[in-house]
Amino acid sequence: MADRKLRIGMLGYGTVGSGAYRMLVDNQASIQAKTGTHIEVVRIGIKDSTKPRDLSADIFTTDLDSIVNDPDIDTVVELIGGTDPACRLVETALVNGKNVVTANKEMMAKHGSRLVHLAKAKRLDLHYEAAVGGGIPLIQPLKHQLAGNDVLKMMGILNGTTNYILTEMQQEGADFAEVLAEAQAKGYAEADPTNDVDGFDTMYKISVLASIAFGRQVSISDVYREGIRRISRTDMKYADMLGYTIKLLGICEPVADRVRVRVHPTFLSKTHPLASVNGVYNGLWINGDFVGDVMFSGRGAGSDPTASAVVGDLIDVARNTAIGGPGSALPYDADMPTESIDSLKSRYYIRLRSYDRPLVLGKIATAMGEHGVSIAAMEMKTLILHEQGEIVFLTDYARESDFANAVKSLTDEVGVISVESTIRVEA
Ligand code: HSE
Repeated sequence: MADRKLRIGMLGYGTVGSGAYRMLVDNQASIQAKTGTHIEVVRIGIKDSTKPRDLSADIFTTDLDSIVNDPDIDTVVELIGGTDPACRLVETALVNGKNVVTANKEMMAKHGSRLVHLAKAKRLDLHYEAAVGGGIPLIQPLKHQLAGNDVLKMMGILNGTTNYILTEMQQEGADFAEVLAEAQAKGYAEADPTNDVDGFDTMYKISVLASIAFGRQVSISDVYREGIRRISRTDMKYADMLGYTIKLLGICEPVADRVRVRVHPTFLSKTHPLASVNGVYNGLWINGDFVGDVMFSGRGAGSDPTASAVVGDLIDVARNTAIGGPGSALPYDADMPTESIDSLKSRYYIRLRSYDRPLVLGKIATAMGEHGVSIAAMEMKTLILHEQGEIVFLTDYARESDFANAVKSLTDEVGVISVESTIRVEA
């Protein structure tokens, strides 16, 4: 058997860390056969040494710096999350000549360009497959097998919590708050769900993917972001009636020499491959100029799937170490020029309450038409209980800024009591 060793220092031993440790132990023989290397976790840095754990206490330390400064450790696996102290520790590890594997989407979204340049300069591996899409291989295919393509569009369901909530809302006819409370009780959603439901998690992930696809770091401050709190079961019901489902999508597309990156709930045609990615599953759909449509899906979170991505990265490190060269620290430059959402041309779903007056539909259509927005599919429901109409329609393609002005023109004068909901549409 092999006599090569890869000595790992792990930062963090939560769900992903314990899964990765177990996978390295359980599958040691086959990993060793494939790599010729014994990958061994020799030290694990934790925050709280009083917590009961399933490994002997000797392997743990609360001194995280001692791991990134330990000359006997050649690869650091960072699983703490957040930027502080994770980013400082990763930088120190790289400066000290250690390869790094991380699952940290926030760190890569904010500091990816700097870190990959540092890794490249030091001729080290820096891998982050687990940062996006858990166990689904997304980053390596984008960096390698798909890299010859110009990406024409990329859309992803990149957050399992929100996809679970939206799927439950759709299948059970339940409202957002109800499903969120139930998901929190079951431990599927965090007590503070902001990161997931307000779209931050998806924003980090789509920024990382866009940065790789377009070769320059997309600043997260340039990403348009909307979460799913305002989605109601009524919108779900109408989506279904019109042949759509509602998904929280991270979307990126080139616009001339810029890129537009956005995160928002989307009316997605039931015929789109992402529409059938349900529950906690994640999916990424890419349209490349030569490859055409490519679709990835699988488990985007959880101990075992994320461990699978971390261990896959470690196997890459082992192979690259064996041949004496760094693998996938593909550098991308800083400052991707971005395009604002205002110039987006999209179709929109709109739901409004109107007075029961003659010609109200015509007046609404005229008011919107004055801003260049025309109506595509319409259906009128009378809510007898309130004795007022609920009008739902999809627009034809319109510019985002025109649509915003058209919505503002839907006032009392044209018979509109309130605009209840607007959602962008993707075919
Ligand atoms: N909170 C994330 C999710 C975990 O729900 O998908 C994986 O990044």
